[in-house]
Amino acid sequence: MTVPKFASRKGGEPLVCLTAYTAHVARICDRHADLLLVGDSLGMVIHGMPNTLGVTLEHMIMHGQAVTRGAEKALVVVDMPFGSFEESPEAAFRNASRVVKETGCTAVKLEGGVEMAPTIRYLARRGIPVMAHIGLMPQAMNTAGGFRAVRDEAQWDAVIEDAKAVEQAGAFSIVVEGVAEPLADRITQAVAIPTIGIGASAKCDGQILVFEDMVGLFPRVPTFVKRYGAMEAMMDDAVSRYAADVRARAFPGEEHTYAARRGGDAG
Ligand code: KIV
Repeated sequence: MTVPKFASRKGGEPLVCLTAYTAHVARICDRHADLLLVGDSLGMVIHGMPNTLGVTLEHMIMHGQAVTRGAEKALVVVDMPFGSFEESPEAAFRNASRVVKETGCTAVKLEGGVEMAPTIRYLARRGIPVMAHIGLMPQAMNTAGGFRAVRDEAQWDAVIEDAKAVEQAGAFSIVVEGVAEPLADRITQAVAIPTIGIGASAKCDGQILVFEDMVGLFPRVPTFVKRYGAMEAMMDDAVSRYAADVRARAFPGEEHTYAARRGGDAG
């Protein structure tokens, strides 16, 4: 998948997007997804942080490297963490170019609307494709007073302006997170680049979910998550059966042990 091919899917078959943070998960998702996002949600999902604000560029680069090793077909996009792009377009370019060079990803994602348009323009004109992220922006949780979905109609016009601004700045796609369903539909109609919804609308040009939420491996289940698996229960069952076997000396069995080698045997 390339950026132009991804962008050309506007209004076509819905784009399938998932987060991935490790090579093995990337390999699995790559069989089915058009885009793999190394999201800064890895701070919470992998590193047990309370939010995404503590995630560093080094975290993103390390997980980005793992995901590009596992992905063959899908477009790999790496999130720019809080503090790595807001200061100036130049600082954003310095950090985003490091992400692209050191991970081999194709594009970066950054949170922000109108206020980030000059930065998106600066990156896109210098060879770094940008996926924008508007609506509920987790990195703005302290100014917003928490994770707040955009439901109030009085806020809708500003979000539509954000979508238009990031499109005009050269973003190739927009993640639309946590907005009222009709607003997501209006944003999708207002721009000519694909909108990728999370807590948004089935009318978006594609959808994204956090892999661990989708397979049932993360305890918190927000409204917008549909669980397609029950991995936590499966893993808990496997660990408890292993623990019971170890305690009963039922593991390892003979088939899991090495027979002694008689002196001089080869192989
Ligand atoms: O960090 C992330 O995983 C994201 C997606 C939820 C869109 O930004």
